Formats: sequence, structure tokens, C-alpha cells
Amino acid sequence: ETLELSAEELEIGGHQHFMHKEMHEQPETVRRMLTGRLDDRFATARLDGLQLEPRELRAFRRVKILGCGSAYYVGQMGASMIEDLARIPADSEAASEFRYRNPIIEPDTLYVAVSQSGETADTLFAVREIQRKGGRVVGLVNVVGSSIARECDGGVYLHAGPEVAVASTKALTHMAVGFAMLAVALGRVRDLSFADGQRIINGLKQIPDQVAAVLEQEDTIAEVAKKVAAAPSLFFIGRVRGFPVAREGAQKFKEISYRHAEAYQTSELKHGPLALISEELPTVAIVPRDDLLERNIGAAHEIAARRGPLLVVTHDGVDLGELDAARIVVPKNEDELDAILLTIPLQLLAYHAALSLGHDIDRPRNLAKSVTVE
Ligand code: AGP
Repeated sequence: ETLELSAEELEIGGHQHFMHKEMHEQPETVRRMLTGRLDDRFATARLDGLQLEPRELRAFRRVKILGCGSAYYVGQMGASMIEDLARIPADSEAASEFRYRNPIIEPDTLYVAVSQSGETADTLFAVREIQRKGGRVVGLVNVVGSSIARECDGGVYLHAGPEVAVASTKALTHMAVGFAMLAVALGRVRDLSFADGQRIINGLKQIPDQVAAVLEQEDTIAEVAKKVAAAPSLFFIGRVRGFPVAREGAQKFKEISYRHAEAYQTSELKHGPLALISEELPTVAIVPRDDLLERNIGAAHEIAARRGPLLVVTHDGVDLGELDAARIVVPKNEDELDAILLTIPLQLLAYHAALSLGHDIDRPRNLAKSVTVE
């Protein structure tokens, strides 16, 4: 892959690594991404690049999201947002699997290809397979003019700016925000009320400042990261909207710390993996303040009762009782948007774990920034 970036774009500033710079750019880049796209008058998002009329948007009966690695996990966040806000069935699948399994392509499904580089071969071939069989596919892509951006039938540019570190951070946050906007746009031509549209739009407007508030906790998170980095293996657990957060947290952690990290649905613990819990295996638990709070707190207590070390990523106002756990508190947003902010501390956790282990943060072993081979 040829990266055509100006010297200025490649400037690392006062940061030790590109990953660090890119995490810290998020408040500004997200603010820029939202500019001109939030429509207060109609309580919706304006995504002209989709090139879909309201009539066409309304006709889709299903949404299928395709991406690889972290893009696939953020696609799962996006699918939840779309189901919550537009009430149409949505799911995310690894493009690398989809393209080889002779998928059923339906004319009333909106296919969404999600990719930072726009050059990931598996995602690009999934796009071509969909188009060959008559499906409509739009892109959520960062790199302007990239192959996926060009070949899709329309799309939304992420406007995250160049991302150099192999471990993606800001582009993923932009993908999640992009899905929230798509979900509102799909919702507002269906049953999503003006008031609910406005609630989400206002929630999105708060994201840049709230991301900044999480980044301010970097020193505290770095301390925790050093401790968890000492363990050979780590669990990340989350339920429903929190599960893709856990998956992305584990992904980031293994990419740069080279530690085994596994994501599990909190609800599935008792069906097997609880047997692994001991003082040797730290768990990072995603515990948002939403309608599943009590269940998630209960699971955290079950882990603590088995002497599993715990790091709880939660919201202000959550009472964890006597739970023996380290905690990171992120600002609360609307329930449907919480995944965006809950993911940010996990970027810092992975970064500082890898830093304490002395790894090459921006260029982890065995990985490429964009996987253009099959
Ligand atoms: C993210 O940290 C990873 N490096 C990787 O999973 C990445 O998200 C995936 O390869 C997809 O890349 P893309 O967004 O450029 O298509």
C-alpha cells in the first residue's frame, strides 16, 4: 500500500506514538465530522453522500453491515443502534466470512461496508459480491477516493483524517458516530419521533467533550493498565450493547500488548467460562447505567466472589456496593450511544499496557495497517 501523506499530516507532534496522537485527536475530529450533518430542524442526520431519497431509505427492511476486525465489531455497535432507533433488523458480519459463504443477497436490504482504509481486500470483495447479485451497498469509509469508497453506490466519509497506527482508534470512533447518524436517518423516516431524534442529535453533540473527559483520565487508566499487563490473559465482558465494546477492547488489547484477551457475553459466563475465573485472570467488565445495570453488577459480584480481579468500566452514579474492583467512570450519554464512549478507555488501557511491556505500539508484529491481500 502506498501512503500518500504530506509531511504535515505525518507530524507526530508532541506525542510519543501515532496511536497516542490519534486517540487525543478524537474530540476535534469528531466535532469536525458532525459539522453540517446534524439537522435540528427535522431532528435527523443529513447524509447526502448516501445518495438515497427518503422514499428509498424507507423501503429497506433490513441492514447488513460488513467489515473486518475492529470495523466488524463497530459494525455490531452500529447494528444495535439501527435496531434500537429504526427498529429494522440489522446485523454485522465479518466480510472475510461473508464473501466465501454464498450469502443471500436481498433487494430490500441495505448493505453497509465499513472500512478505515477502504482497501481491505475481504471487504472490497464482499462489496463486489453484493453488487454482482444486485444488492445496494453504501460505504462508511475514512480514506477519500479509496477502492471501497469508489466502488460503493454512495456512502458517508468518516473524516477522521489520516490514521497511521496499526491499532485503529479514531477511525473506529468515527465509524460508531457514523452508524449513530445512519440509525437516526433510517429511524426518522420510520417510527422514530421528533423528540427521540432530537434526543439522539443532542447526545451526539456532547460526544466530543465527553471523549475529552475520558482522555483526561489517562494517568489513572495507565496505572491500571500496568497492573493488568502483568497477567498472561484477560477477559473482557459485556452484555447486549456492551458486548461489541468488550470485543473491541479485547481486540485492541491483543493487537498491541500480545496478551491473550477474550471477549465474552456477560450473560454467557455461567454457561462455561466462569470455570476459568480465579485470582490469575483479570476481567474488564462493561457496566453501563442502563436497564441491564443490576444484571451486570450481579455478574461482577460473581466474579469477585471467585477472587477474579476486576476492572469495571461504568458510568457516574452507579453504585457497585462493596465490590472489590478498580473502576473507570465515563460520562453517560443516551443509552443507544453509550458504546461510543465506553470504548475510549479501552483504547488507553491497551496503549498503556503495551507501553509498559515495551512493545512497538504503532507497528505491532505480524500486522499491517491495511490488509490488501487475501
Ligand atoms: C484495528 O485495530 C485492526 N488493525 C484491524 O482489525 C482493522 O480494523 C481491520 O483490518 C479493518 O481495516 P479497515 O478498517 O482498514 O478495513
